[in-house]
Amino acid sequence: MLKLGIIGTSAITHNFVTAAHESQGYQLSAVFSRSLDKAEAFAKSYGNLSLFTDWADFLASDLDVIYIASPNSLHFHQAKAVLEAGKHAIVEKPMVSTPAELHILKDTAAKHQVLVFEAARNHHEPAFQQIRNFLTDKTILGAYFGYAKYSSKMPELLAGQTPNVFSADFSGGALMDLGIYPVYAAVTLFGKPQTATYKASQLPSSVDLRGSGQLFYDGFYVTIEAGKNMTSYFPSEIYTDQGTLTLNACQHIQSAVFCSNDGQVTELAIDFEVDTMLTEAQHFAQAIERKDLELATDWLIAAQAVHDTLYTMRQDAQIQFKADLDVN
Ligand SMILES: NC(=O)c1ccc[n+]([C@@H]2O[C@H](COP(=O)([O-])OP(=O)(O)OC[C@H]3O[C@@H](n4cnc5c(N)ncnc54)[C@H](OP(=O)(O)O)[C@@H]3O)[C@@H](O)[C@H]2O)c1
Repeated sequence: MLKLGIIGTSAITHNFVTAAHESQGYQLSAVFSRSLDKAEAFAKSYGNLSLFTDWADFLASDLDVIYIASPNSLHFHQAKAVLEAGKHAIVEKPMVSTPAELHILKDTAAKHQVLVFEAARNHHEPAFQQIRNFLTDKTILGAYFGYAKYSSKMPELLAGQTPNVFSADFSGGALMDLGIYPVYAAVTLFGKPQTATYKASQLPSSVDLRGSGQLFYDGFYVTIEAGKNMTSYFPSEIYTDQGTLTLNACQHIQSAVFCSNDGQVTELAIDFEVDTMLTEAQHFAQAIERKDLELATDWLIAAQAVHDTLYTMRQDAQIQFKADLDVN
């Protein structure tokens, strides 16, 4: 059983802890927060936990793995410190603000003989293997993957504030927050694209509220949509020489229906968990327990392809983060 510590005390951390406990691979042991009140409030539902507001004390504590769910731009420095302290790190998506940061985290993990994971939950869904198997005898002609959901932080934004998720200082915006899921779907199914474009509705800070991009592969392209100022109910689709496969979504995939060019409809049997974070939590615990560097490296190769692509897309739309000045 892995001793788990957490950074960030918002709802997503409760969700991850629930999944971690359900996986039976972890026991939550410690909470780091900037305030003791918040640490106590978070810990209330989990019994006796160690509470930390001092960063050095937290890193020196007896933990195996730390889950990081702070604002995006903090992930890199926090994960680097966690790895340097000899602990494994599970970092919420987007794990980094720039591809350069990911290279540094990979090197740091290798140097300290620990593992680092991006909590990109859709990359771990079994549906992708089932879809890949179904597509093996077909020629891919293209795909559409989108994720757009009206943000609970929109009223704050409209009232003139800058919530973290819309902040250039915190590496926010639609592409980094939700667009990462469609990009992961494309990379998981088709590998790294050769190049990518992105055009967006942007705030004066350059952070995107909504955007549309294309990922270019040899012989086809994938259209990507991301949005935080509106909700899309549009499904995802994969186009082949033999027909179209329609998915309910490109994350938490629960249905896949193929309509052949002559109109025959086939429903694929898709495995999925109700808890969207359970499979990734299981995978990370297994990789740590088995010291499975090969598997962890495969996930990092996918993460690198995703972050290289996101960076190319950001450059196309001229979305600039404070973090771009720090490392690159
Ligand atoms: N996988 C998923 O489905 C999913 C869903 C939602 C979010 N996420 C990811 O989870 C991460 C957190 O998202 P969120 O919406 O929960 O973010 P958030 O509310 O802005 O911040 C999360 C936590 O980070 C700490 N924090 C906030 N502002 C900070 C600051 N200025 N300096 C240092 N710490 C600060 C706070 O904890 P304390 O006050 O206790 O220090 C807060 O509870 C993001 O990377 C997001 O992409 C993933």
